Amino acid sequence: MSGFPPGFLWGAATSAYQIEGSPLADGAGPSIWHRFAHTPGRIANGDTGDVACDHYRRWAEDVRWMHRLRLSSYRFSVSWSRVLPEGKGAVNQRGLDFYARLVDHLLERGISPMVTLYHWDLPAALDDRGGWLTRDVAGWFSDYAELMFKTLGDRVPQWATINEPWVIVDGGYLHGVLAPGHQSAFEAPRAAHNVLLAHGAAVEAFRASPGPRAGGRIGIVINLEPKDPFSSSEADARATQRADAQFNRHYMDALFHKRYPEDLAEVYGEGWPAFPSLDFDRIAQPIDFLGINYYSRGLTADDPEDWPTRARKVRNPAAEYTALDWEEYPEGLTRALTWVRDNYTSIPLYVTENGAAYDEPDTLDEDTRTLDDPRRVAYLHAHLRAVRDAIAKGVDVRGYYAWSLLDNMEWAHGYAIRFGLLHVDRSSLRRTPKTSARFFRQVALSNGSVLDAEVPRAEALEALPT
Ligand code: FCB
Repeated sequence: MSGFPPGFLWGAATSAYQIEGSPLADGAGPSIWHRFAHTPGRIANGDTGDVACDHYRRWAEDVRWMHRLRLSSYRFSVSWSRVLPEGKGAVNQRGLDFYARLVDHLLERGISPMVTLYHWDLPAALDDRGGWLTRDVAGWFSDYAELMFKTLGDRVPQWATINEPWVIVDGGYLHGVLAPGHQSAFEAPRAAHNVLLAHGAAVEAFRASPGPRAGGRIGIVINLEPKDPFSSSEADARATQRADAQFNRHYMDALFHKRYPEDLAEVYGEGWPAFPSLDFDRIAQPIDFLGINYYSRGLTADDPEDWPTRARKVRNPAAEYTALDWEEYPEGLTRALTWVRDNYTSIPLYVTENGAAYDEPDTLDEDTRTLDDPRRVAYLHAHLRAVRDAIAKGVDVRGYYAWSLLDNMEWAHGYAIRFGLLHVDRSSLRRTPKTSARFFRQVALSNGSVLDAEVPRAEALEALPT
């Protein structure tokens, strides 16, 4: 008994700016990430997405890899400014054709696409008009969404509107470490509200559009991080509440309870505005599934210096940490999934991202056939068991997507941080399967039964077919 229901989707996830490269090819317009990466000092090592994994040209090879991995689904994002160079108005047919070819190819291989409409790469032309800070963005986004439903709706069964509102807002508008790089406690809650409004508008467009095929489904992807107090002090308990409100409940309360948590007024102080209550009807449109991205938890201590939450993330001396300094905490995934079911919704859930980065070489010898990554195998094994535990507790989880198919551009960290099942050589761009790719293939082939056994060693895993 594997513990995973029949038809459970085994997938890998990527995003456009992180893998495609050729950001301005064939008539595409620049995105805020193109601009950000070309601003000195923004990205480690001066890296940009100009080449990335060259997936824009190597997509057919990458679909072959997915097939070798026996993936039943692939989650990728559309670059908005590839299909609408100015963000609205004139359509770039060559951009649309790229995604149509990709989808057709996936379907021919029996791989079900899950398409994310927005994975952080706002068209730069729309940023010039206010970007996520103006309510107009909801209309721009739903027009773009409608174009995609019309173009691919007959073939794509699952759509996600937005990837990780928290990161868009916290990285882009509060701390400024991600595009467009603003730092403002005044802007952040407004940007968050407009991101949520845009999501709601796209769901409305989906319901009204003749594009989507019968049974086509739409949802959103939220990243969750359970927050735990570092000590038993009252101050740490309150800090944990604030951190939880700012990270998790901000978006979940809006989407499922039509409100924002009261603690946010405390977090944002005078930056916190009054929002029109009618907006919540739009934000909380019924959706068909919820995607959850999970990487770690947040052990939290009170810290008056931490702006604006006054809640600092602290290290757990007893835990293992990944290359991004994220605590490995598999139980957190079971907790996140049950927390959603217990407090918010019983719609189907998908783990739309989960994975880990470890130090690995930039280049491999040409004759290298595989790269051993035992820690990633152990990480995936533990987290997949955590998903199975949630299913055993009655949570309706329908799929799991490893982050990521390929080593790719990890945003402000550039290419130094590697999350892939497939290693991507930075000079030749050659793909090499890691042990984790072989492990994940066995997981998919056995619908999770291999998780009954302990973490396998590389020698015990079949090589990927050629
Ligand atoms: C998530 C992002 C994804 C990737 C992983 C490591 O927050 O959605 O693009 O960067 O983290």
